[in-house]
Amino acid sequence: ARVFVPRDAAARSVGADTVAERIAAAGAEVVRTGSRGMLWLEPLVEVETPAGRVGYGPVAPEDVDGLVAAGLLEGAGESLGVVEDLPWMRRQQRVTFARVGIVDPRSPDDHEAHGGNAGLRAALGLAPSDVVEAVVESGLRGRGGAGFPTGIKWRTVLGAQADVKFVCCNADEGDSGTFADRMLIEGDPFTLIEGMTIAAHAVGAVEGYVYVRSEYPEAVEALTAAIEAARERGWLGERVLGSDLTFDLHVRVGAGAYICGEETSMLESLEGKRGQVRAKPPIPALEGLFGRPTVVNNVLSLASVPAILAHGAEAYAALGTGRSRGTSVFQLGGNVARGGVFETPFGMTLGELVEELGGGTASGRPVRAVQVGGPLGAYLPASKFDLPMAYEEFAAAGAMLGHGGVVVFDDTVDMAAMARFAFSFCAEESCGKCTPCRVGAVRGVETIDRIRAGTEREKNLVLLDDLCELMTDGSLCAMGGLTPMPVRSAVQHFGEDFAK
Ligand code: NAI
Ligand code: SF4
Repeated sequence: ARVFVPRDAAARSVGADTVAERIAAAGAEVVRTGSRGMLWLEPLVEVETPAGRVGYGPVAPEDVDGLVAAGLLEGAGESLGVVEDLPWMRRQQRVTFARVGIVDPRSPDDHEAHGGNAGLRAALGLAPSDVVEAVVESGLRGRGGAGFPTGIKWRTVLGAQADVKFVCCNADEGDSGTFADRMLIEGDPFTLIEGMTIAAHAVGAVEGYVYVRSEYPEAVEALTAAIEAARERGWLGERVLGSDLTFDLHVRVGAGAYICGEETSMLESLEGKRGQVRAKPPIPALEGLFGRPTVVNNVLSLASVPAILAHGAEAYAALGTGRSRGTSVFQLGGNVARGGVFETPFGMTLGELVEELGGGTASGRPVRAVQVGGPLGAYLPASKFDLPMAYEEFAAAGAMLGHGGVVVFDDTVDMAAMARFAFSFCAEESCGKCTPCRVGAVRGVETIDRIRAGTEREKNLVLLDDLCELMTDGSLCAMGGLTPMPVRSAVQHFGEDFAK
C-alpha cells in the first residue's frame, strides 16, 4: 500500500524526512504530500486502505519500526482511524485547501487526477469578461486581509488599455501566526498556478510573478518545480492547454521586509528597487508593475478561483454569511492545544474556533486574549467569543479578520507589553516614507514605557490615544494605519494591564 508522509515545512521541522526514510526502508512506497493542517499530529503518516487513508501521528522516527511491526503498512495496529473522519477534518468544508495534504505537490498527473485544471478549462471556454463576472458573482473578496472584491479588481484591470498587463501573486506572508499561503504553495502549487492562469485569461495578462518571502525556501522550491512541470505539460507558455492564451510565470524571492507584503512595496521590490510604499492612487489595477495594469492578489484569493470556475460561482456564493461569501482558511496558533489550518465557510464563531477546535490553550490555563489578523489585528477577550468570523462583524467590533491568523494567549499575558510590541514592530518594519508611522511608532514605544512605569499615567494615556488617532488618519499605508488597532484594543479590553 502507498504511505503518505508530508514534506510540508512544519512536518519536516518535527522529523518528517527521517520518518519517511525509515518507512521507505521498511519497503513501502512513500508519497510526500502537503500537510492536512493538523499540526499537533505532525509528522502524520497516512496509509492507503480500502476504507480511506488511515492516520498515525505524531510519529517520531524511533516509533517507525514498532509501528511497522504492528502492521502500519497494512493500515493495522493502533491508529487515529480514517483521517477524513477525524473531528477536525469533518467540521471543515475545504474548497481552497481541497487537495492540500492529499496530492503529491510535485506531480501534475496527481493534480489532474484530483480535479485539477477543470477550472482553467472552463475559464478558457469563456470570454474574459464572463470569467471576471463569475468571480464577481462568487462574492470572493481579497484573502490577503483587506477583503476587496476580487472580481471588481479584475474588472478594473480588464478595462484598462495597455501594451502588456501582469498578474502578481503576493506570497510575502508576513503576518505573525499565519501560514496558509505557505501550506498551499508547498502542498498544492498547481492550484495557485491554475488560479493565476485563469486571472491572466480574464484580464489579458501575458506574464505573472509570485513574490515569495525568503523565509519560505520549501515553498520556493515547490513552486519552482511545479512551474517547470506545468511548462513541460503546456499548462504555461504559448497556447496554454491548446488555447490562444500565452502566459508564463516566474518566482521572485523577497529579502525579509514585512512591508514588501504591502502591494505597492512588493511591486517596487519586483522592479528591483527598495521596497517602499507608493502613494495610491494610482491603484496597481491601473498602474502596477512597471506602470502597467496589474492584478495583485494574495495566494489564497488566486487559489480559490479554480474551484469557483470548476463548480460555479453560485456554489461558492452559497457558502458564508452576509457579505462574507465562500470559505476562509483560518490559522490557529500561539498558546493553543491544537494548532493548524481550518477551512470553513465564514460565520463560525471565534469561540468555536478557539475553544472547540483549538481545544483552548496548550498551557491548560484560561484563554485571556486572542489576536486575530496578524500583528496589526485587534486583541479580543474571551467575552467576544460569540463574534462570527466574517468581515463586517469583525469591523463592527473594532477588529479585522486580516489574513485569518488567530493567535491565542493565556491569562499570564501582559497586554501592555503586547501593545508596546505593536509599536516596536511598526518601528522595526516601517518603510520610513511617512512621518506618522516612522516617528509615531517610536513615540508610541516611549509613551507605553512611561505608562508602564507609572509616570504621569493619565496624561500619557490621553497622549497615546491622540497618537493612535494621528497614525490611523495620517499614515500612507496599513502598516502605520493599523498599528493602533492592537494598541487600542488592548487598552479597551485589558485596561487593567495599563494601570499596574
Ligand atoms: P486597501 O483597502 O487599500 O486595498 C485593497 C485592495 O483593493 C488593493 O489591492 C487595492 O489596490 C485594491 N483596490 C482598491 N480600490 C480599487 C478599485 N477601485 N479597483 C480595483 N482595485 C482596487 O488595503 P491594503 O492596504 O492593500 O491592505 C491592507 C490589509 O492588508 C489590512 O487590512 C491587513 O489585513 C492586510 N495585511 C496582510 C498581511 C499579510 O501578511 N497577508 C500583512 C499586513 C497586512
Ligand atoms: Fe511606510 Fe509606515 Fe508610511 Fe506605510 S505607514 S508608507 S510603512 S512609513
